[in-house]
Amino acid sequence: MTLVTQNRHADTTAPLLDALVARWSPRAYDPTADVPTETLKTVFEAARWAPSANNVQPWRFVVARRGTEGFAKVHDALLGFNKTWADSAAVLVVNLAEVVDADGNPRPWARYDLGQAVAHLTVQAQHEGLHTHQMGGFDTARIRDAFELDDRLEVVSVTAIGVLGDAATLPDALREREHAPRVRLPLEELVTVAA
Ligand SMILES: Cc1cc2nc3c(=O)[nH]c(=O)nc-3n(C[C@H](O)[C@H](O)[C@H](O)COP(=O)(O)O)c2cc1C
Repeated sequence: MTLVTQNRHADTTAPLLDALVARWSPRAYDPTADVPTETLKTVFEAARWAPSANNVQPWRFVVARRGTEGFAKVHDALLGFNKTWADSAAVLVVNLAEVVDADGNPRPWARYDLGQAVAHLTVQAQHEGLHTHQMGGFDTARIRDAFELDDRLEVVSVTAIGVLGDAATLPDALREREHAPRVRLPLEELVTVAA
């Protein structure tokens, strides 16, 4: 396995946790690298300990390792250029929100809670030396059918997890994105300090 260490660290205006500085969303993954089961467990344990409204923990995950039928099902459902790069990831995860409780009552915070759990997962994965890339570009109906999902579950996103690969293996348009500057809105635009 070639160790690729492309530094895409965030140019922060205040000191952050190492994993937050180092996290970014690559599209080049090492197609030969697997994630050890223990590491995968650690990553989902981080998701498990995310906060949620009333502690209902409405996040559910379908985890598919490269080379399995499940992985092929998730990969088949990806749209556009996501299909081009995501096949090299070690794991594809379908992120599900249980948007209705067992009595049929809506859970207004379920998607928000799932997002927090996925955020925990991405930071822990980074800490474990992995990278993650979330996706909204997929065919929901295809994933629902493939995994015969319960009506109470909503497919919100898909996350690729893997070991960073060589950007040179990507098609031109995607390779350029691997090196494009990482930008963010200024903090002053995001935060209003109430008087
Ligand atoms: C909900 C969500 C959906 C996304 N959908 C896609 C996608 O379909 N394809 C893709 O290549 N990147 C996708 N991204 C990745 C974002 O483009 C990326 O996180 C953003 O540009 C910031 O870059 P960074 O994660 O490297 O900091 C998605 C990210 C999120 C959080």
